[in-house]
Amino acid sequence: MVIQWFPGHMAKATREVKEKLKLVDIVFELVDARCPLSSHNMYLDEVVKDKKKIIIFNKIDLCDRAETAKWKSYFENKGYTVVYTDAKNSNNLNKVIDKAKEELAEKIARQVAKGIKPRAIRSMVIGVPNVGKSTFINKLIKKNVANTANKPGVTKKQQWLKLNKDIELLDTPGILMPKFDNQEIGKKLSLIGSIKDDITPLDDVSLYLIELLKYNYLENLNNLYKINVTSEDENVFIMEKVAEKRFKKIGGDYDYDSTIKLLIQDFRTQKFGLITLDNYSDLLENEEHDEN
Ligand code: G4P
Repeated sequence: MVIQWFPGHMAKATREVKEKLKLVDIVFELVDARCPLSSHNMYLDEVVKDKKKIIIFNKIDLCDRAETAKWKSYFENKGYTVVYTDAKNSNNLNKVIDKAKEELAEKIARQVAKGIKPRAIRSMVIGVPNVGKSTFINKLIKKNVANTANKPGVTKKQQWLKLNKDIELLDTPGILMPKFDNQEIGKKLSLIGSIKDDITPLDDVSLYLIELLKYNYLENLNNLYKINVTSEDENVFIMEKVAEKRFKKIGGDYDYDSTIKLLIQDFRTQKFGLITLDNYSDLLENEEHDEN
């Protein structure tokens, strides 16, 4: 089963985002620090074109810092400005404002030189679902304005929120989910809650999680379930070891359903510890593979 992760309302939402983009000088793209590449909109440059962009690695408190730092360099080498944030705990949010001002300093200086009094910088937040866009907006302005349950396609009157005298932020984030056909990215987006469970083959997602853990975080996997598997073991075998530890057999068979749910839930509630799903050396290997 393939993840049906680009339903029609997303296309509508993308059109709406493009409309809003016309109003702003700078875009804050929020990505999940646990998978900065997979949750980044690959078509951001096409969609946003001539606007300034800052990529915000949110949920920095949940990731494996060493791995995520490689992704920060990766994006910086491509010319992006990257800021780490933990929106839930209001960490580093002012850095985003400082960086936005830096990015637009030249434009503002040009206006001043021409004798034009610069208006406040206009900004907006975009990103895939569940990366923390609404939390980020609410914490940044220290009020509940962005509805965390806000649905793409539901229109309401836009408002500009004053972050300080120089910069304003659109009160509703843009929800983006471009079309691409990489199922591995889909599975990571499912793990971080960007794709709804009811359109996702959770058995595949949990086996994929086992695969990522056994290669990159084997100790975390073994410690959590008190098992002793190796990265050479098959994913299904590992799932059965987890099932054996946690659930009674049903009619002599492993309780796969409960184990699938448990694995995904344990990832989402950080039971494995600090994990980064996007592995930088995998990207390098894939690039090498493509070249040959
Ligand atoms: P969205 O608008 O992009 O869809 O995301 P939203 O702000 O609704 O945030 C999704 C979830 O991520 C929320 O958790 C929120 O608290 C959490 N979150 C946002 N930023 C951070 C962060 O930097 N670190 C961590 N650890 N969590 C973050 P929830 O479980 O859906 O709700 P609740 O925990 O707030 O009750």
